[in-house]
Amino acid sequence: MIEVYDLQKHFASGFIKKRYKPAVQSVSFAIEKGETLGLVGESGCGKTTVGRLLLRLIEPTAGKIVFDGQDITGLKHAEMRKLRPRMQMIFQDPESSLNPRMKIGESIAEPFRLGLRGRCSKSEIRNHVQELVDIVGLNQEHVNRYPYQLSGGQNQRVVLARILAINPEFIVADEPTAALDVSVQAQILRLIMDLKRDFGLTMLFISHDLEVVRHMSDRIAMMDKGRIVEIKSSKDN
Ligand SMILES: Nc1ncnc2c1ncn2[C@@H]1O[C@H](COP(=O)(O)OP(=O)(O)O)[C@@H](O)[C@H]1O
Ligand SMILES: [Mg+2]
Repeated sequence: MIEVYDLQKHFASGFIKKRYKPAVQSVSFAIEKGETLGLVGESGCGKTTVGRLLLRLIEPTAGKIVFDGQDITGLKHAEMRKLRPRMQMIFQDPESSLNPRMKIGESIAEPFRLGLRGRCSKSEIRNHVQELVDIVGLNQEHVNRYPYQLSGGQNQRVVLARILAINPEFIVADEPTAALDVSVQAQILRLIMDLKRDFGLTMLFISHDLEVVRHMSDRIAMMDKGRIVEIKSSKDN
């Protein structure tokens, strides 16, 4: 589904005299269709940067990214926009990916209104939203509320419903439960696992927590100081 070759990202620091600090150095891996690759490593080792590079949210300094057989490294903005719905990111903080001025139901309905799933009538959209709300374990009451009126765990469910509405093939989940209460983390991880299976998604699952990554992934890539130092099956020790 996705292949990266010798990916590098250097961020500039210093205003007067620019210095370039390598955040990602020579990272290569591939993720099969339907597979979850876990990416684990200490804070600051470059995990989020890798995730954002894969989705072309930031530009690589060097390297190549192939998505479903297509080299997307040099794609122009407009071409990337067409691909965008096929690859989505779940962030640590669900509120950052929800519009605070939109009711939950409107957020979930938006991909349908934008025509990402073909033409839908208002009543069809209402039914789709209802179905998605059920799938992610929310109810009709939540639909008319705003993100600030929901808990972090509930908002992450909204994010997942919205992503299912978009219907991507590939997801980068970047520490999707790290900002949530410990009591709800397991529920959200369970939900992500179920959705991944039910919708045949391919996933890069990022966490600093090896136990969580082991639980969620088929294979694990260990990252240290901008490099992947080992890739192994999550069954191995
Ligand atoms: N936009 C940015 N500008 C400058 N430096 C950045 C930027 N994003 C990340 N970095 C740096 O790149 C390194 C890797 O960061 P990150 O990918 O966020 O690590 P992780 O997700 O593993 O905690 C860190 O040293 C961080 O400070
Ligand atoms: Mg990070």
